[in-house]
Amino acid sequence: MEAYLEEMREAQRARGPATVLAIGTANPSNFIYQSDFTDYYFRVTNSNHLPHLRAKLNRICEKSMIRKRHMFLTEEMLKENPKMSTYAEPSLNARHDMLIEEVPKLGEKAASKAIKEWGRPKSDITHLIFCSISSVDTPGADYKLVNLLGLNPSVKRFMLYQQGCYAGGTVLRLAKDLTENNAGARVLVVCSEMTVVSFRGPCETQFDNMLGQALFADGASAAIISASPLPVERSLFHVVSAKQTILPNSEGAITGHLREEGLTFTLKGNVPQIVSDNIEKSLEETFNPI
Ligand SMILES: CC(C)(COP(=O)(O)OP(=O)(O)OC[C@H]1O[C@@H](n2cnc3c(N)ncnc32)[C@H](O)[C@@H]1OP(=O)(O)O)[C@@H](O)C(=O)NCCC(=O)NCCS
Repeated sequence: MEAYLEEMREAQRARGPATVLAIGTANPSNFIYQSDFTDYYFRVTNSNHLPHLRAKLNRICEKSMIRKRHMFLTEEMLKENPKMSTYAEPSLNARHDMLIEEVPKLGEKAASKAIKEWGRPKSDITHLIFCSISSVDTPGADYKLVNLLGLNPSVKRFMLYQQGCYAGGTVLRLAKDLTENNAGARVLVVCSEMTVVSFRGPCETQFDNMLGQALFADGASAAIISASPLPVERSLFHVVSAKQTILPNSEGAITGHLREEGLTFTLKGNVPQIVSDNIEKSLEETFNPI
């Protein structure tokens, strides 16, 4: 019996490491140059009476090293939804109505590009992992993407919400385990993020809100992963190892809370220091065994 089970497991497993076969990205067409953002932000949030905050945002934008950011939200949309531009007015319904529609659509744009680059039939996709910090809904963005792309209804779906900045690493880690344990699997991973969930005006006591307003933008990315590629499929990268850890003294450094006013977040000033204190040890632990 044991030999039979072992033989069956051997047949189910893939031989190679998880391999990225194609990548696609997408952004909303609307964008703003970072050098114009301070003027734009203080105008659309009616905050020009706060010159000290304005000057601070300008300094953050200058140091951010960002050139331009794409955002679905336009000035016109903000005028139609004025509660999104203040710091903390209840506005989740309006945000949510946009997100449950647009997050899967942006994901579809990126996924279509990845599928085109891959060059294989969509029906070969066996698993879908969709990840977004927002658009919590049932059925979720994963289900909507199956319909938008016309995927096989029996595709095995995974929906991950509220991952924040580690969305990309998380979906790749999961795709590695799925593909290496399922011979023939083709996993489509999609991350789709929109600042509709967190755009808000400045607050005199919450500087990290303004920092997030200066850094975050809208975009989606998609990749197709397999651990048993065919000779006709192009291997771009091998996913050799995937790890996750919680850094010491990092509790509360980055948090997000979904409230009536949308997603609020904290980005403590010690985040760059925590990363810098731990990066060498993390890299050693990752690369030494391989
Ligand atoms: C903001 C950032 C671009 C500033 O660059 P820098 O080279 O560190 O420049 P400075 O230290 O001079 O900071 C510029 C200003 O940003 C402010 N600032 C930096 N980090 C901040 C934070 N977490 N919250 C509020 N303000 C912050 C500083 O106080 C400073 O303000 P000041 O000009 O009034 O003194 C950089 O620190 C950064 O990217 N931080 C965010 C990292 C992060 O949290 N990433 C994860 C996002 S989920």
